[in-house]
Amino acid sequence: MTGQADRHTARWRAYLRDCDALVGFVEPMQVCGRVTRVAGLVMECVGLRLAVGSACTVPLPSGARVEAEVVGFDGDRLFLMPQSDVEGIVPGTRVYPVEASVPRPGSVPHPRRRPSDRARHLPVGDKLLGRVVDGAGRPLDGLGPLGSDEVAPINARPVNPLDRAPITETLDVGVRAINSMLTVGRGQRLGLFAGTGVGKSVLLGMIARYTTADVIVVGLIGERGREVKEFIEQILGPEGRARSAVVAAPADSPPLMRLQGAAYATAIAEHFRDQGKNVMLIMDSLTRYAMAQREIALAIGEPPATKGYPPSVFAKLPVLVERAGNGLEGGGSITAFYTVLSEGDDQQDPIADAARGILDGHIVLNRHLAEAGHYPAIDIEQSISRAMHTITSHEHQMKARRLKQLYSRYERSRDLISVGAYASGSDPVLDQAITLHDKIESFLCQEIHENTGMQQSLAQLTSLFD
Ligand SMILES: Nc1ncnc2c1ncn2[C@@H]1O[C@H](COP(=O)(O)OP(=O)(O)OP(=O)(O)O)[C@@H](O)[C@H]1O
Ligand SMILES: [Mg+2]
Repeated sequence: MTGQADRHTARWRAYLRDCDALVGFVEPMQVCGRVTRVAGLVMECVGLRLAVGSACTVPLPSGARVEAEVVGFDGDRLFLMPQSDVEGIVPGTRVYPVEASVPRPGSVPHPRRRPSDRARHLPVGDKLLGRVVDGAGRPLDGLGPLGSDEVAPINARPVNPLDRAPITETLDVGVRAINSMLTVGRGQRLGLFAGTGVGKSVLLGMIARYTTADVIVVGLIGERGREVKEFIEQILGPEGRARSAVVAAPADSPPLMRLQGAAYATAIAEHFRDQGKNVMLIMDSLTRYAMAQREIALAIGEPPATKGYPPSVFAKLPVLVERAGNGLEGGGSITAFYTVLSEGDDQQDPIADAARGILDGHIVLNRHLAEAGHYPAIDIEQSISRAMHTITSHEHQMKARRLKQLYSRYERSRDLISVGAYASGSDPVLDQAITLHDKIESFLCQEIHENTGMQQSLAQLTSLFD
């Protein structure tokens, strides 16, 4: 009898505690501001005091509404960046802050201590698998509502660097050249550096289909709209799609949606990681993300610094990238691939430079290889996986190094060999490079529909030297 009474009291106590917390969130009355200016990409509004990063909504006379986010202020004027077209806004249109979602009695209240906790919350969780959504969490695939009851803030708190599990295990990506020569660790963040049309999307699709990760989250940011469909239907395919969540914010969506799309894809990945899963996050592309931030920063008056990029762009990149990686010890992980547009020898691109500094490795795709039909066009001389030496055996590393040496030696003497100016026997390493060249070439190439697991990749690497 007493047990039942105790439970009864405990339930009531919890309920009253929730009510108490609820009173803390709710605004005593609805406040609103007014739009005073719309110029280019930004709106200005007066009459509201909101933190940067807060979400707002602007109801239009037509009944539609424009969602916006506070991206800056000047005195009393707030700068708002809309998520959609600003068509239909008239001078003096009202602006309402979006309230943090109110907890239900009995649910565990979220500690909303930071401004980011009060920013937009979007759906996450298993219901997103097999679905395609836009940067605001709206389904794009015509398969009906998501029906997800879990939401998460799109800008989550980073993991304390000292609490993060180190990278100690390998992750099979199903691509021979990467598994053997540029081994990826669970929780590693890599850049895929390449120009246009060199095979980035196809390679990412192969990784998504063949990796042994539990869940794939794909962020298609700022790419052409046509490519989104192609990536999902042809490259990812039904088998890849079933365990993937895709967030698409193509080039024609407003810059805020492109930024938000990248943050949202990361939030979805974080949610799966926090459930202990090994997540593969694919972001195509980091350069377009930086360009979206540049558009916003320039629109609110930040001065451009390097090649037209304002300083805030270089501050935003590590914030996004640092959210990927391993979680707490014994927990899940986010292994991430970010594509970076860079044209071969152009070492001047500031985004490629910045990305190289914040990622744990880079895979460079080479146009000459692609032109010669060498796919995936991975340039093993220029690419590096910084985690490889801690996660692979000494024996594996020695073989990879040997292959790289032979490959480079052949490449450097290629002209001599092709005109017949090299007499065999004068350089034993080059002799071996020439003998093995065809085998090495075909080892590094891989068909789109071919899946080569880690064991198989290593066995094939070993058999090269037998
Ligand atoms: N592994 C492969 N095997 C055969 N062909 C390939 C392979 N990878 C890429 N290709 C060819 O290269 C073309 C371009 O590839 P992809 O669309 O992946 O390039 P991209 O770098 O994503 O281009 P963009 O910069 O336009 O997005 C493909 O249409 C395909 O014909
Ligand atoms: Mg592409």
